Amino acid sequence: MITLALSKGRIFEETLPLLHAAGIQVLDDPETSRKLILETNRADVRLLLVRATDVPTYVQYGGADLGITGRDTLIEHIASWGGGAGAAGLIQPLDLGISRCRISVAVRADFDYGRAVRQGSRLRVATKYVAIAREFFAAKGVHVDLIKLYGSMELAPLVGLSDAIVDLVSTGNTLRANHLVEVETIMDISARLVVNQAALKLKQAPIRALIEAFAGAVAPLNPP
Ligand code: PRP
Repeated sequence: MITLALSKGRIFEETLPLLHAAGIQVLDDPETSRKLILETNRADVRLLLVRATDVPTYVQYGGADLGITGRDTLIEHIASWGGGAGAAGLIQPLDLGISRCRISVAVRADFDYGRAVRQGSRLRVATKYVAIAREFFAAKGVHVDLIKLYGSMELAPLVGLSDAIVDLVSTGNTLRANHLVEVETIMDISARLVVNQAALKLKQAPIRALIEAFAGAVAPLNPP
């Protein structure tokens, strides 16, 4: 049995064509079914629906053989395990090129970010992405106090909780709706395939076949 963990919503929707390319049809619709284990047309392949931030954990501990998760989630998970993907027993064979967005720094339109950085002010930054933010500002030599939040980051500068946020930006609509402006892009994000190191050894042929099918489906999406 090959078990693939992924989250509902955009990643699930954008993974379906990749699964089709690998000859896999999902038999349940996660939007209408309450099932957390989804069967497929292949008796030896099943999907687990988990929270996006839990995907690396399921794969690390072998609850799933493979997972699909954002680069952001993966970086934060690996940082919490001391920095090395190997330490977490995770192999990252493929950038799937789906669920693309970016992680950016945003501030209130009336906050002079450039000046604060030039003056060497200590910035208060609210984010869910503490490792990414810490690394980014450390590399710039900007002193920051990081405030960990779990969602609705856009609120923090509006109520004086922080000077800036570090958050995912896709269309930019959420920032605009909350009168925030993007001042720096930290990194581009897309969904990655992750594989449990031990599972890859034990189930090498079927897992490699799946990785190759995904790679073939992804290649047209990611021209060199
Ligand atoms: C993300 C992110 C932003 C929003 C950006 O939140 O945290 O709030 O999407 O998208 P946009 O640029 O297209 O407006 P999401 O809806 O994934 O929920 P979250 O707060 O749980 O992260």
